[in-house]
Amino acid sequence: MDKNSLAWHVAYQCKQEGAEFVITNTEQAISLAETNSAATELGCTVIACDATNVSDIENLLEKSQEILGGKIDFILHSVAMSQNLRRHRAYPDSNYEYYNITLDVSAVSLHKILQTCIKTDALAEGASVVTLSFIASERFMEGYGEMSDAKALLESIVRNMGGIYGQLRKVRINAISQSPTQTRAEKCFPETEYFHKYADKMAPLGRATATDCANLCVMLFSDYTKGLTMQTLYNDGGFSQTVLSGNFMDSFRNAFEDKK
Ligand SMILES: NC(=O)c1ccc[n+]([C@@H]2O[C@H](COP(=O)([O-])OP(=O)(O)OC[C@H]3O[C@@H](n4cnc5c(N)ncnc54)[C@H](O)[C@@H]3O)[C@@H](O)[C@H]2O)c1
Repeated sequence: MDKNSLAWHVAYQCKQEGAEFVITNTEQAISLAETNSAATELGCTVIACDATNVSDIENLLEKSQEILGGKIDFILHSVAMSQNLRRHRAYPDSNYEYYNITLDVSAVSLHKILQTCIKTDALAEGASVVTLSFIASERFMEGYGEMSDAKALLESIVRNMGGIYGQLRKVRINAISQSPTQTRAEKCFPETEYFHKYADKMAPLGRATATDCANLCVMLFSDYTKGLTMQTLYNDGGFSQTVLSGNFMDSFRNAFEDKK
């Protein structure tokens, strides 16, 4: 986690609302010091955890409950990584070892966290779990590669675990499909600068910011959304519902007129 991470913005807004929490990342990411300095600024503890490793998750949940003094009220799952994209391997040429790692880190990790929560009864009755997704889970997007498949799986896990955990402990599980936002993970994708401009023009409200995402997370963690679960909510300024906007058409027309 660094200052651009969506998780940082969420943690910051949670702090503003008086929440107590711990933050986590892989041992390797923590050694880069940014996660530790985020923890110092947020006044919280950082606990190392590889989200694909069940014994790490057990340790994280146990230590978190010790520190927080009881069962957990909310979890943000803000984890993604694509091995093929990092190595510039195009989708049809995916290496399947990398592909499996991508699915494990970016989607199955949520299943592992929730399974461990159920087995250890780590979540309080009515707790809220939020994960972060992207519109490419359901639409073709050139260059998003295997991450599209990971996000589709992630949203499916949200529905299936939401259905089970809702009945067990009234736990809510939702995904936020967020606008493209400048972060470290996003740097793997090609031509993000142009894509941001495109999304800004196409979305009637423009792109939703990291702070918009954080505010929505706070609302989903709160008791104001006790009846909301198993959903993918589009925090994208209306992008996912738009085929063409006047703002985009104006820029498109101007760009082509300039070329004449
Ligand atoms: N930035 C965007 O445009 C955007 C849009 C929609 C959704 N999202 C999603 O938001 C989430 C957060 O991404 P971000 O953009 O803030 O980037 P980020 O790089 O700041 O966050 C990704 C985090 O995942 C961590 N991570 C990777 N492998 C891990 C593992 N095995 N165990 C534990 N942690 C691990 C990384 O260390 C990093 O802190 C991701 O799920 C991403 O797909 C991002």
